[in-house]
Formats: sequence, C-alpha cells, structure tokens
Amino acid sequence: MGDSSQDSVRLNPLPDLRQVLGRFATGVVVVTARTGNEHLAVTMNSFSSVSLDPPLISICLGKHLRCGPALETAPHFCISILGAGQRAISQRFAKAGDKAWEDVPYRTTELGIRVIEPSVAVLECRRHIAVKAGDHSILLGELTLARLGDLPDPLLFFGSQYATLNAASCSL
Ligand SMILES: Cc1cc2nc3c(=O)[nH]c(=O)nc-3n(C[C@H](O)[C@H](O)[C@H](O)COP(=O)(O)O)c2cc1C
Repeated sequence: MGDSSQDSVRLNPLPDLRQVLGRFATGVVVVTARTGNEHLAVTMNSFSSVSLDPPLISICLGKHLRCGPALETAPHFCISILGAGQRAISQRFAKAGDKAWEDVPYRTTELGIRVIEPSVAVLECRRHIAVKAGDHSILLGELTLARLGDLPDPLLFFGSQYATLNAASCSL
C-alpha cells in the first residue's frame, strides 16, 4: 500500500493550485464577438459543453480581461476550436495588441463575427446567461450553429504547455 499523503499536493499558496488544476488537459479555443467595428478575440481553455437539450456551452471570463465586459454582454459570440498547428494564433489572442488579426486566417459569419478558418470546429452561440463566480464570470451560450472544420488534429493545453494529438490514432 502506497503512502498517498506523499503524492498529494497542498493547495496553498496559490501557485500550487494553478499547478494542480493545470493537470486537467484541455483543448484551446478562440472566443470571438463584435462590438461595432471592433472584432474581439480571446484565447481560452475553460470552454466546456454543458447541455445537449438545449445545446449549451460555457466559458469562464477572467475579471482581468480588457474585453471581458463586452464579451459578457455581447448578444452573440463564436468559438473556434484550434488545430495542432495553431499555437501562434493561440498566443496572438492571449495578448492585447492593435494588430491582433494581422496575418490570422479567418472568415466572417452571417452575424458579422470573425471565426478562425481553418479550424477543428466552429460554434456560433447566442448569449444565454452570465454568472459571477469569484474572479471569473461563467458565460453560457446557446448553440445556433455547430460546424466541423478542415483541421483533424486539435491543439491541447496541459501543465501550462501546448501539446498535440494525432486524431487518427484515436478510435473515433
Ligand atoms: C491556452 C490559454 C488559455 C486561456 N484560457 C483563458 C480562460 O479560459 N479564461 C480567461 O479569462 N483567460 C484565459 N487565458 C488568458 C487570456 O487569453 C488573456 O488574458 C487575454 O487574451 C488578454 O486579453 P485582453 O487584452 O482582453 O485583456 C488563456 C490564455 C492561454 C494562452
């Protein structure tokens, strides 16, 4: 019998918590919306499916986000699921910048919101509800359209590092 206490990680101080929670492997998405002429885009890994009927998804918006208030209240937003070769796009939308969209491949949806193309998949959402939760807000969206993209392999995030997965090696 192993001594499980040796393997456990105490949750204080905060960096430990980040380290433990970061051991949950996720994909990487770019969340986009439009306010007037401004095209908002933020990299996120807190994306989650919530409900199939009705089809709901969630993302968690940090209070630190400059575009957080605009995203939280936007009537529509989109999710682009990034592919294995799109780390640079993930990094681009994890930083503020005037020329954020320069050289990024995208198309514009019927609602005028930019989505990354190519990508693994794109979801178009109608705002459902936003709930304050600690230093984040949980934003729920109802899917109005879901479309598979041309990229087969997803970009992953694990332990604060990017990783990739060969979809062909998975028994889908
Ligand atoms: C892989 C990855 C995942 C991220 N996930 C989230 C997230 O789920 N929620 C969040 O608020 N910020 C997340 N961030 C940080 C934001 O992308 C970053 O703070 C944001 O782009 C800054 O935008 P701003 O200029 O609007 O403040 C993530 C960053 C990376 C690189």
